[in-house]
Amino acid sequence: MDFLEFAKERYSCRKFSDKPVEQEKIDKIVKAAMLAPTSVNKQPFKVFEIKGAGNIEKLKKVTPYTFGTSVVLAVGAKKEDAFTRQSDNKNFAEIDATIVATHIMLEVHDLGLGTTWVGYFDEAEMKKDFPQMKDYDFVALFPVGYPADDAQPSPKHDATRAKEEIFEVIE
Ligand SMILES: Cc1cc2nc3c(=O)[nH]c(=O)nc-3n(C[C@H](O)[C@H](O)[C@H](O)COP(=O)(O)O)c2cc1C
Repeated sequence: MDFLEFAKERYSCRKFSDKPVEQEKIDKIVKAAMLAPTSVNKQPFKVFEIKGAGNIEKLKKVTPYTFGTSVVLAVGAKKEDAFTRQSDNKNFAEIDATIVATHIMLEVHDLGLGTTWVGYFDEAEMKKDFPQMKDYDFVALFPVGYPADDAQPSPKHDATRAKEEIFEVIE
């Protein structure tokens, strides 16, 4: 499929069926994360797969946006492992992890699954429940599942700003 068609077709899915996500699909999503470009190829990120009823219940305390899924992928950035630009000390960890997260979001769609990029969560509370996450700054949670039969894009999906607002030629 043409990339622009693919990009248009993808939407934030907020309603899932009960069908479980196969392990082979999770493996492909992880592969997509591994293939993402990062500055100086430092790969300063980790993806956590959170599953199991008890763990999903814990996540529900830190975000209202789990949408009833049974698997959530959390993408974290580790500053210490990242490239830092010398001229201004800018650390690239979150930029890199955000690219990884974008790969994950697009691979999920390519596999016929759905997800929503969730940025609204209480990171400190999440780390209390999941101490494995303590060294990472989180850029996204992805509840993943098969879209429900009546899942639909929200009205915001089609709202793009005008080209003149988001694009400028400097010549
Ligand atoms: C960085 C980021 C954070 C977001 N956080 C949330 C969130 O916490 N909850 C939610 O329901 N949607 C969240 N979204 C989804 C956006 O609302 C959605 O992408 C946008 O409205 C466009 O809709 P579409 O993805 O269907 O095209 C987030 C998206 C991004 C990129």
